Amino acid sequence: MRLTIRDIQKMKTAGERIAMLTAYDATSAYLSEAAGAPMLLVGDSMGMVIQGHDSTIPVTLDHIIYHSGIVVRATQRALVVGDMPFMTYKANVEQAMGNAARLMQEAGVSAVKLEGGEYIAPTIDRIVQAGIPVMAHIGLTPQSVNQFGGFRVQGKDKDTAEQLMCDAQAVQDAGAFAVVLELVPAPLAQEITKSLKIPTIGIGAGPHCSGQVQVFHDLLGLYPSFGPRHAKQYANVGEVIQTALASYVREVQSGDFPTAENSSSMSEEILAEIRGRWH
Ligand code: KIV
Repeated sequence: MRLTIRDIQKMKTAGERIAMLTAYDATSAYLSEAAGAPMLLVGDSMGMVIQGHDSTIPVTLDHIIYHSGIVVRATQRALVVGDMPFMTYKANVEQAMGNAARLMQEAGVSAVKLEGGEYIAPTIDRIVQAGIPVMAHIGLTPQSVNQFGGFRVQGKDKDTAEQLMCDAQAVQDAGAFAVVLELVPAPLAQEITKSLKIPTIGIGAGPHCSGQVQVFHDLLGLYPSFGPRHAKQYANVGEVIQTALASYVREVQSGDFPTAENSSSMSEEILAEIRGRWH
């Protein structure tokens, strides 16, 4: 049975910390679920770690639908959240509702995530009223990286800290079932978490959130050109893969691969006949 937003709320109420991971394909989805992650995010971070762009902005709704469908098919238990990409929900409420519905209907996700606080709350409200669970995302919202002038911690001064408190309250009041806090000072994330009933899911927001979300590739050393301070590398799988692939290339070049063990044989009689006809 797949987990639901009620199960996620129960985890928060019980004080059980929620470990969320991004997933983009069957392998990352299967491995993350097998590791016990209760929630998977098909994030628009795929723009960077899968598509090789330097931001999330080029990701389209069709990309997210395609990858979300794969992640849903590869899992049985995890609650799968599909990210709504740049400018697929901010033009107007109708646009947001139509695109959230496509993500749920065509990919089978259980919830959608969208970036923004107070100003996007009316949109969250309408999507939730339509029966689509919403995870909000405040703090550093990567789709607005050009507006922020880089990937910077948000909420360090009085006004922006106050605004983040209001944003968190507004998205909860609008019906969001959880809120991602990205690049927010740890003490402020703690205050936000204390002030909300819904779980906060931190990334670069310190240890006091109800849960954490991390990008699959960052934890495993699969994205060497980007090492954010908030990410801990639990294994350098990228190095292991590169060493293995270099061995393969060397063995092909030297003729050590494949051996008889990696090959199949056939009847000498048929072979003799073929040789007779072709040589
Ligand atoms: O796109 C993404 O992966 C995200 C998380 C890092 C929160 O939005």
